[in-house]
Amino acid sequence: MALIEEVDYGTPAAKSEKTVTLTVDGFAVTVPEGTSIMRASKMAGVSVPKLCATDMLESFGSCRLCLVEIEGRNGTPASCTTPVAAGMVVKTQTPRLKKLRKGVMELYISDHPLDCLTCAANGDCELQDMAGAVGLRDVRYGYAGDNHLGQPKDESNPYFTFDPSKCIVCSRCVRACEEVQGTFALTIEHRGFDSHVSAGMHESFFESECVSCGACVQACPTATLSEKSLIEIGQPEHSVVTTCAYCGVGCSFKAEMRGDEVVRMVPYKDGKANRGHSCVKGRFAWGYASHRDRITKPMIRAKITDPWREVSWEEAIGHAASEFRRIQDKYGRNAVGGITSSRCTNEETYLVQKLIRAGFGNNNVDTCARVCHSPTGYGLKTAFGTSAGTQDFDSVEETDVVMIIGANPTDGHPVFASRMKKRLRDGAKLIVIDPRRTDMVRSAHIEADYHLPLRPGTNVAVANALAHVIVTEGLVDEAFVRERCDLADFSAWAEFVAEERNSPEAVAQFTGVDAALVRGAARLFAKGGNGAIYYGLGVTEHSQGTTMVMAMANLAMATGNLGRRGVGVNPLRGQNNVQGACDMGSFPHEFTGYRHVSDDATRETFEKLWGVALQEEPGLRIPNMFDAAVEGTFKGMYVQGEDIVQSDPDTKHVVAGMEALECLVVQDLFLNETANFAHVFLPGATFLEKDGTFTNAERRIQRIRKVMAPKAGLADWEATMALSNALGYRMDYKHPSEIMDEIAAMTPSFRDVSYAKLDELGSVQWPCNAAAPEGTPIMHVDHFVRGSGKFMLTEYVPTEERIGPRFPLLLTTGRILSQYNVGAQTRRTENVAWHGEDLLEIHPHDAEARGVRDGDWVKLDSRSGSTSLRATVTDRVAPGVVYTTFHHPETQANVITTDYSDWATNCPEYKVTAVQISPSNGPSEWQRHYKELSDASRRIALPEAAE
Ligand code: SF4
Ligand code: SF4
Ligand code: SF4
Ligand code: FES
Repeated sequence: MALIEEVDYGTPAAKSEKTVTLTVDGFAVTVPEGTSIMRASKMAGVSVPKLCATDMLESFGSCRLCLVEIEGRNGTPASCTTPVAAGMVVKTQTPRLKKLRKGVMELYISDHPLDCLTCAANGDCELQDMAGAVGLRDVRYGYAGDNHLGQPKDESNPYFTFDPSKCIVCSRCVRACEEVQGTFALTIEHRGFDSHVSAGMHESFFESECVSCGACVQACPTATLSEKSLIEIGQPEHSVVTTCAYCGVGCSFKAEMRGDEVVRMVPYKDGKANRGHSCVKGRFAWGYASHRDRITKPMIRAKITDPWREVSWEEAIGHAASEFRRIQDKYGRNAVGGITSSRCTNEETYLVQKLIRAGFGNNNVDTCARVCHSPTGYGLKTAFGTSAGTQDFDSVEETDVVMIIGANPTDGHPVFASRMKKRLRDGAKLIVIDPRRTDMVRSAHIEADYHLPLRPGTNVAVANALAHVIVTEGLVDEAFVRERCDLADFSAWAEFVAEERNSPEAVAQFTGVDAALVRGAARLFAKGGNGAIYYGLGVTEHSQGTTMVMAMANLAMATGNLGRRGVGVNPLRGQNNVQGACDMGSFPHEFTGYRHVSDDATRETFEKLWGVALQEEPGLRIPNMFDAAVEGTFKGMYVQGEDIVQSDPDTKHVVAGMEALECLVVQDLFLNETANFAHVFLPGATFLEKDGTFTNAERRIQRIRKVMAPKAGLADWEATMALSNALGYRMDYKHPSEIMDEIAAMTPSFRDVSYAKLDELGSVQWPCNAAAPEGTPIMHVDHFVRGSGKFMLTEYVPTEERIGPRFPLLLTTGRILSQYNVGAQTRRTENVAWHGEDLLEIHPHDAEARGVRDGDWVKLDSRSGSTSLRATVTDRVAPGVVYTTFHHPETQANVITTDYSDWATNCPEYKVTAVQISPSNGPSEWQRHYKELSDASRRIALPEAAE
């Protein structure tokens, strides 16, 4: 294996469809109009020396190293800033150019430390390469003049260093932060000899606005900005392309390795989801994979109060299988079930649901998507016929009006947020519907045209009011509706939304949103050109989550914003493989590809292949499993890669369910909160330790590739297979590719997916079959998958969770950039430097009324429970609304959330909980009790001393 070297063309590709032909050093090359001479030269096989240019950034023209001569023109223009022209004759190597370039390089080198041999970038430094490329042998000015060699390093960022003594002030970092990341944290201060890179307002990188995305590190041509891991480990020797295991953006990376140690993760320019960008999590937060808390030996115990006992895989698997069979013999076939993970691969998820349906013989399988995006599946399938988003990420480049509802992409989906911000800086309009003033509402060079700061729980009322304006002001795209949608459904819907009670003025009393804002936003969305809706858990995690998904589908259909680039209804999926987990048949009522278990033809196909009779009734959903466990009818559970005790709502109820189980098998990287109640622990494998595929938010199926052996000896799919075999249901896969072959054979929308195809194309978006052999970037182009688009009536029904004198504030929850979900991984990385605890955001008025100051401990009470955490007083939240994250188990934020859930899918209503805040002295009684329980449960017995 070797290092994967990506070609740097120096400037971005031009988008023109017209081409021009020119010659470079005698080679003819045809390129799109608008291409730079530098890029055209590279395409012709000629490398022009460069320092300030890279194809991730617009050309800048500052270093003067890339000079060329053009026949018939005077001077030596910079090839990075000069566009090609038809018939142009370019020379890149003439005596004059060579002399000029050497002169430029001499100046750079005369102010550069000559410590190449001991520099971390030695062998991978563009300055070094360029000195070689221009044939620099001597520095006439010597090294004794004024220089910057003594500048102190900034080591404040946990992941990279800034050594200004090595800086050539090429500005690539500054431009990367602006153009690629959109944070604008860096500037070049002063001019001439005094010019230097500065983070924020003369702050350290850590104190500045920097969000540690790493784009500047990647852009830096010298060792000025370097990964600390590179400095510590040394230059990588080989690399493997893989996919980030954090969020649903699905960024591609080159895992650059030295032996079996990861040196760094470098975003892959060919990655179609990220186009060479990344966020702090994917790029830097992989240290959890080798964290000392990793459990690498299977363990069992008879009671959850016993210490864990390390055993062999055979013993652990054998014990789990015999316990599941004992429970089924005693309590019946349906007394056991399992949960698949949105963090695991498609292949692993498929195997877990297969084990449950075929091995356990029931449909008691569910997935953590239940608690996040299950309404997306239900709502979009009803409206359009497919349980997935309609676009690819590239589509946003052609969007004129972006509408973000209940999502905070800057924190949740950072790389896509950067692309969205780029489009907004280029002129797209923005509507944000969110109770919080998120970063998308106002940040560097971004300002929402409309922010509708609605009260939590009133999404549907706002969507209906938007629709009211569109219908009553004649803004409907009638041609689209006539050609593409069911007209009877449309008429009924139009009549419904036109009712006065759905007008912006009428709903303002409970949404809290100024009617004029709603009217303005509706007009902009309907008439502003291509309108695209992007939404997140602020839509789905409500008692009307599914209704709101349908309401957004209605808005998109009514305005003709479907079936082409730049438009669509786009769920921003939380975890890396939420889409895949849903696709793979993880829901109790559906096989792969969203086919109902009661469908005889589908079920018979699976029965034939799997060789067992399958149940035709849907099994238990996750909350039903907890209920049944508390009632005593559900006794055994297999949970792969999911921490239900921390992530599911109403923790006390979940804990009661877990305590009632006779056999809980947890498969994870760490002893998570759920493992506190487990009897068998199967050590999991990280994404670095196995092969497989993830499917991101745009339905893109991408490979993950093994770069090191599983620390516990088995990859997760191998452990599931062993459990199935121990249960007596035979599975015999040699490699995950064989599992994918089975998935493809059994699933119409995956029919043409194979590892060979993924290796060839890099990735594909399903449906990928005979009709679309290279996948489907945009859905519903000529017609909806279900035929005609279906408008649904979306009556607003207020949640039963109401504020009142006892609980007068509304709590809503979310995530922040540096942390991921329940934090099991990110808490075990340096990311804790940015977020070491969950904080409660509270508006200054509400804080003052309760005597709460910034940083104070506060007690947060709801009718479900009580917890304590520290307060941040901020006007990011509106009066009456408080907000927190749920990344840290010490906080136990889900003790507060209630058992209310979406009417269609049981997705919990995390986003609306009536609460009260009061001053506190520290952790609550429940937190202390839970900590004791947790500490006791995590004991691992010492190996018995040898006789
Ligand atoms: S790490 Fe990212 S956010 Fe921070 S300065 Fe570099 S480019 Fe900007
Ligand atoms: S830090 Fe690197 S990228 Fe930034 S100006 Fe200096 S040399 Fe260029
Ligand atoms: S966490 Fe998401 S945005 Fe960040 S690198 Fe991973 S996939 Fe990309
Ligand atoms: S690469 Fe063209 S001026 Fe620097």
